[in-house]
Amino acid sequence: MLGPVLLAASRSDRMRRVVASAPVTRPVVQRFIAGDDLHPALDTVRALVDSGLHITLDHLGEDVTDRATAQATRDAYLRLLETLADAGLAERAEVSVKLSAFGQALPDGGHDIALENVRPVAELASTHGTTVTLDMEDHTTVDSTLAVLRELRRDHPGTGAVIQSYLFRTEDDARALAVEGSRVRLVKGAYKEPASVAFQDRREVDRAYVRALRILFEGSGYPMVGSHDPRMIAIAQELAARTGRTPGQYEFQMLYGIRTAEQRRLADAGERMRVYVPYGADWYGYFMRRLAERPANLAFFLRSFAPGR
Ligand code: FDA
Repeated sequence: MLGPVLLAASRSDRMRRVVASAPVTRPVVQRFIAGDDLHPALDTVRALVDSGLHITLDHLGEDVTDRATAQATRDAYLRLLETLADAGLAERAEVSVKLSAFGQALPDGGHDIALENVRPVAELASTHGTTVTLDMEDHTTVDSTLAVLRELRRDHPGTGAVIQSYLFRTEDDARALAVEGSRVRLVKGAYKEPASVAFQDRREVDRAYVRALRILFEGSGYPMVGSHDPRMIAIAQELAARTGRTPGQYEFQMLYGIRTAEQRRLADAGERMRVYVPYGADWYGYFMRRLAERPANLAFFLRSFAPGR
């Protein structure tokens, strides 16, 4: 019940002002966010890489409503890629982008603006031997995001995308994307979606996840299993064995701060494990989605407001 309320709050400017300005929340936020700025996040990235993990970095931001901020997102990613290359981390660390931070939602020509802003990011990633993955946001953005993916993949075939098993359309998208060289991260989905487009029952979302997983593993692309769910991980491993894939022909991905011991266990067992590391000052929307996924996180968050803390 709380999940939908928190997801609605994740889009509320008023809530954003209250939560994001309260310093008391910071220690809780730090569990999920690697820092306000690139430099502390880079220390985290280096430590994770040194321990055998792969990384995808997210410079936090979304729902940008003006061109200048969209261009600032582009510039932040260009700086991020240069920094990763200078630090010798580009081989192990790629970047994840949200097209709404690149201008996708701007009223006049948002799609083209986002494409124009994200293209140099894909170019620089290729130059430094790394990749970009397009995160997926709410269902109204899927067609545009997949169209941007097709454009970018012409010159940068390593560009990947995310599909969300809660959407009815996703099995078809999985089939279309399960082609040679195509990097596809499958997740359950983190936005509040209507019953007209998405499964509402968690069991149905899980069953749809397994169906899409099977399509990706049986296809010729590169499946990226974005889940913390032990059942999905076990099924992915079974599918890998059945389809003759070895680690490196697929990978697991989890979010920074969630099931850290399991991340380690999979990497130590020889799996390729990539951690999604978000950083930046605009952490509110991302953080609220993490609270919505798990009520225990909310209790932890609320306790941080208690007197004496
Ligand atoms: P599920 O929610 O069933 O959780 C399984 C178990 O994982 C839980 O029992 C708990 O132990 C742990 N867990 C999960 N979430 C937790 C949390 N917030 N705090 C603490 N423990 C938690 N979504 C999207 O819509 N677009 C996107 O682009 C992405 N990108 C993305 C990248 C990566 C690498 C990951 C792992 C996930 C995403 N997501 C996403 C989020 C995704 O849609 C989904 O909301 C979360 O991964 C939670 O779903 P699980 O598959 O982990 O299963």
